[in-house]
Order: sequence, then structure tokens, then C-alpha cells
Amino acid sequence: MPSKKYVNSGVKVQRPDFYGDNKSQKAYLKWCIIWLSECFRMAKPGSPICVFTDWRQLGATQDAIEGADFILRGIVPWNKTEAVRPQKGRFRNQAEYVVWGSKGDMPTSRNVKVLPGSYTYPVRQNDKHHLTGKPTELMKQIVKITEPGGIILDPFMGSATTGVAALSENYQFIGIEQSEKYFQIAKARLNETAKNLSSLRNITSEIIDMNTCSKRILSYLNAVTA
Ligand SMILES: C[S@@+](CC[C@H](N)C(=O)[O-])C[C@H]1O[C@@H](n2cnc3c(N)ncnc32)[C@H](O)[C@@H]1O
Repeated sequence: MPSKKYVNSGVKVQRPDFYGDNKSQKAYLKWCIIWLSECFRMAKPGSPICVFTDWRQLGATQDAIEGADFILRGIVPWNKTEAVRPQKGRFRNQAEYVVWGSKGDMPTSRNVKVLPGSYTYPVRQNDKHHLTGKPTELMKQIVKITEPGGIILDPFMGSATTGVAALSENYQFIGIEQSEKYFQIAKARLNETAKNLSSLRNITSEIIDMNTCSKRILSYLNAVTA
């Protein structure tokens, strides 16, 4: 079950539940090292890795990135602004964090400009398609850590905000999602994005839907037509 922080958030819009979000710290650390090690195995040398976390899992997330052999490179705060739910007598929990690193050396000669050290974007309900959905504009900024035209993998794509951002910014995208409901939401959003982009740019998107295997995988590989 998703943890109560999402279920009881008082939001009027009903969104599908999802599983795998109520682990103890030690179980979370072990699980993260397993899937991050798989990401490490598949990533090209020098590839960036970005993992969103809240304050509670921040330490474990840093440990997991290093535990999977990535080089830990920093923490980028995302300020969700005062639009988040306030609690009287407490500091407002209005930030999440992007813990980031790379597979080995990451030369500054890469074709990526200087990126901001923090981001401020409120969560808007009309741009939220998952209980933990990220703002699309935020993700359009985060994906820019990837070199132009690169392939971005989101192994927990949810409603595919990362995928929508990746396609919009001219990257290729592979997404994995275990919830059938969110997989369908992701697919619809990605199809819509690909359709809008192909009318804007001279681009066709080849969509590979591997929904028949144990994991639901969507792959959007853009081919620029002459
Ligand atoms: C935090 S949400 C991602 C939300 C996403 N960033 C968005 O904006 O929509 C994580 C997702 O990972 C999925 N998930 C959890 N464990 C998984 C697994 N082992 N394999 C694939 N997906 C998984 C959940 O179903 C959930 O939808």
C-alpha cells in the first residue's frame, strides 16, 4: 500500500493507489541498492543518475547511490512552495531533494550547460496525474543533466512525467511501471505528447509497448525524419 502521507493528504481528486512505498529504512536501503545496481549495469560510462527523495529517506538514498557504485555528486533541493499542506507548530515540509551522481567520471566537457542548484515549482492539480506526481516543468529542467539526444530511463515511471519531459526536450525515453492503472495513464500521456510533438517538429516516435512481460515497459525512441 502507499504510505498514509499520500492516501490521507486531503486532496479531493482520487488517484489510483500504488505499491512498494512503505519499507523500513533498512529494507529501503537494500532495495535501492539492488535496483540502482541494475541501473548502473545498464548505464553508459559517465551517465548521470537522479533520485528524488524526501527528508526522511535522504541519508539512505545517498548511501544507496554510493552502494550501487555511482559517484555521489550532490543534492538539488526542489522547493514546492507554500502550496504544500501546512501543519500548525511545525516547519512546513515544502522541499524534496534530487540526489544525483554519475557512473564514474563525468567530464565537464560533456555537452551540458551549467544547471541550477535548486528549483522552485508548485505542484498544480491540473498537472498532477499520480499521487506523487511531479510538475512537468520541473522534470523538463531535471532531464537536462542528460546529454542532448540521450536515452533516459525511469524504472518507476508512475504517470510518466519524466517521459513527457524527456520527449518534450528531445530525449529518448524508456519507462517501467508495475501498476497497470498507472501504466495506462503513462501510455496515454506519452502518446499525447508524441502526437503533439510530431505535429510541431518533423519527428516520428516509435512506441514499443512490452506490456506482456512481467514488468510493463514503454520505450519511446524518437527518429528524426529528413
Ligand atoms: C513515486 S511514483 C512515480 C511518480 C512519477 N514521478 C510521476 O510523476 O508520475 C513510483 C511508481 O513506481 C511504481 N513501482 C513501485 N515498485 C515498482 C517496481 N518494482 N517496478 C516497477 N514499478 C514500480 C509504483 O507503482 C509507482 O507508480
